[in-house]
Parts: sequence; structure tokens; C-alpha cells
Amino acid sequence: MKMEIRLAKKSDLEEINKLYNYYITHTAFTFDTKKKTLSEITDWYNKFGKTKNSICLVANVDNKLIGFACSTSFRKKEAYKRSVETSVYINVKNRGKGFGKKLMTELIKKLQLTETKSLYALITYPNQTSINLHKSLNYKKVGQLNDVGFKFNKYWSVYIYELKL
Ligand SMILES: CC(C)(COP(=O)(O)OP(=O)(O)OC[C@H]1O[C@@H](n2cnc3c(N)ncnc32)[C@H](O)[C@@H]1OP(=O)(O)O)[C@@H](O)C(=O)NCCC(=O)NCCS
Repeated sequence: MKMEIRLAKKSDLEEINKLYNYYITHTAFTFDTKKKTLSEITDWYNKFGKTKNSICLVANVDNKLIGFACSTSFRKKEAYKRSVETSVYINVKNRGKGFGKKLMTELIKKLQLTETKSLYALITYPNQTSINLHKSLNYKKVGQLNDVGFKFNKYWSVYIYELKL
């Protein structure tokens, strides 16, 4: 098995889109509710690299994309510029094999080279795997937004996990 983690490229977008659309349509882990088109995912991708701390990494196993991890601006307003939201998605077949942790570890390493101070993961409850992943990376729970999302005809709460660099 050959594993590679690198910056996402335009040619990865079709695979990223497939993977992400699965989680949009099958889960509340993301609060997007409608499948993304390739053009929408391209607009999303084009924002990476505009600031040093907006980064998108992909993981390939035997040259096949199996996951991605990204950091994006936490909120739009300027003073949030040293805070990012991180997110990570691994395709269903490859979950629980350590890839999520490897991707996030690499993303955190890259963010340590920037002026980033705080990383936030917004985790829909329940999602024990994601909670375990973030705890094992030293993120701490700092808050909770109750019933903040409405998807699949029900309300979902979100746990806020924070990592200080
Ligand atoms: C959450 C996710 C990114 C984790 O990545 P992964 O590759 O499956 O997880 P890893 O194998 O790297 O394991 C990470 C930690 O979670 C734990 N874990 C893995 N699978 C688990 C499971 N099924 N149940 C509970 N904990 C689990 C591992 O023990 C590990 O903890 P440790 O380092 O203390 O041993 C991945 O499962 C996924 O894409 N899930 C769906 C999308 C999602 O929830 N994304 C996160 C949105 S906030």
C-alpha cells in the first residue's frame, strides 16, 4: 500500500466532490443539504491558498483519493484571520484505518508554520468517531450549539472543539 498526502489539485475535484456529496446526502456531518456541482466545488477550491492558513490536503492510497482535510477562514470578518475551521472526510470504505488522523496531523503541521492561533472543528452530534479523532489530536470541547441545524426533518446540535497552536 502506497499512501501520499499532498495539496489538493484541480484534477482531484471530481473525486472530492463524489466523496463530499455522499456525506451531504447520507449524513448530517455536514450541514450542506444539496449535492454540490463540479462548478460549485471548483469555486470552493479556488479560495484555498488565498491566505496562508487556508489549506486543502488530500490523501491518496495506491493513487486513489480516499480523503481530504481542509482549513478555511473561521468567519469572514478580518479579525478572525488567525482562526480557522478544520474539516476532514474519509471515504466510507477507508474509515477507521488511521487516515483521518494522518491527514489532520499533516494539516496541523502546515498550520503551525503560519500565524494561526486557533483551530475549530464543528462536530454534529452524534459523531463519536470524529469526537475521538479530534480528542486524540488534542482538540478540547469548548462549547455546544443546541439544535442549531435542521436537516432530514430534524434538529441537530453541534459541538465546538478547539485546538490552540
Ligand atoms: C471522522 C473521520 C474523519 C475520522 O477519520 P478515520 O480515518 O475514520 O479515523 P482514524 O482511523 O484516523 O481514527 C481516529 C480516532 O478515532 C477513533 N475511531 C476510529 N474509528 C472509530 C469508530 N468507528 N468509532 C469510534 N472511534 C473510532 C480511533 O480510535 C482514533 O482514535 P485514537 O487515535 O485515540 O486511536 C472519518 O471517520 C470520516 O470521514 N467520517 C465521516 C465524515 C466526518 O464525520 N467528518 C468529520 C466532520 S467534523
